[in-house]
Amino acid sequence: MTDSAERLPGTVGRNAPARAAIAPTTRSEEAKPMSVVTPFPKPASRIQDDPASFRHAFRHLAGGVSVITTGHGDERTGLTATSVASLSAEPPTVMFGLNLSSSSFPILERSRGFGVNFLNATQKPVADRFAGRKGEKGAARYADAEWISGMTGAPLLIGALAALDCEVEEIIERHSHAIVIGRVRDIRLGVNDAALVYWRGDYERLGWMSEEVTTALGLRAF
Ligand SMILES: Cc1cc2nc3c(=O)[nH]c(=O)nc-3n(C[C@H](O)[C@H](O)[C@H](O)COP(=O)(O)O)c2cc1C
Repeated sequence: MTDSAERLPGTVGRNAPARAAIAPTTRSEEAKPMSVVTPFPKPASRIQDDPASFRHAFRHLAGGVSVITTGHGDERTGLTATSVASLSAEPPTVMFGLNLSSSSFPILERSRGFGVNFLNATQKPVADRFAGRKGEKGAARYADAEWISGMTGAPLLIGALAALDCEVEEIIERHSHAIVIGRVRDIRLGVNDAALVYWRGDYERLGWMSEEVTTALGLRAF
């Protein structure tokens, strides 16, 4: 999208779709519906195989934000992750990439259980804490949010869009990271709220909070 691209009416912000240049209408065309010219896409710049280009490319991949929890009591820790993916539904298994140098790796390896909590759009502070943005470590990352213990013992976030209680099935170490495969033992479903997503180095929201939908439909009893 170029900076001069027009925004579609009713949309704001950097996510607003761009409208392509509209060809000037002549008298004879006035009655016809407007024709929209689709601009030819700019060729993607050449990608090299260095880490900076790799990171740059991945900035464009929007990812749902999860918090991975692991450990018990004072040993609890965890991380914010966008690498979570569904591996299979039969049996239910998930996987994610875990940095071998993270504080979570040795705890997860030892406790053999973890929780995957899909964050809603209001839970950015939780994402910041679990990323250790202000230097939070271990159990301090659990502050200012409500948790319950899953059947594997992993903490599950109350208010998450969904929370998966997992047993470690396999840990495959590769390069700087491990691929953690987890067998899902319990699934807690939350409310249909807006999702927290990470895109181009920043948090965004996707969709509507259930409260907003209720208000918009006039269903709230005042
Ligand atoms: C949006 C976002 C996504 C992240 N995704 C991952 C991930 O998928 N895997 C990972 O190991 N770390 C990921 N991190 C980094 C961790 O959240 C955390 O900062 C890192 O594990 C360092 O934690 P430590 O202080 O416990 O060592 C991500 C951070 C952010 C902000």
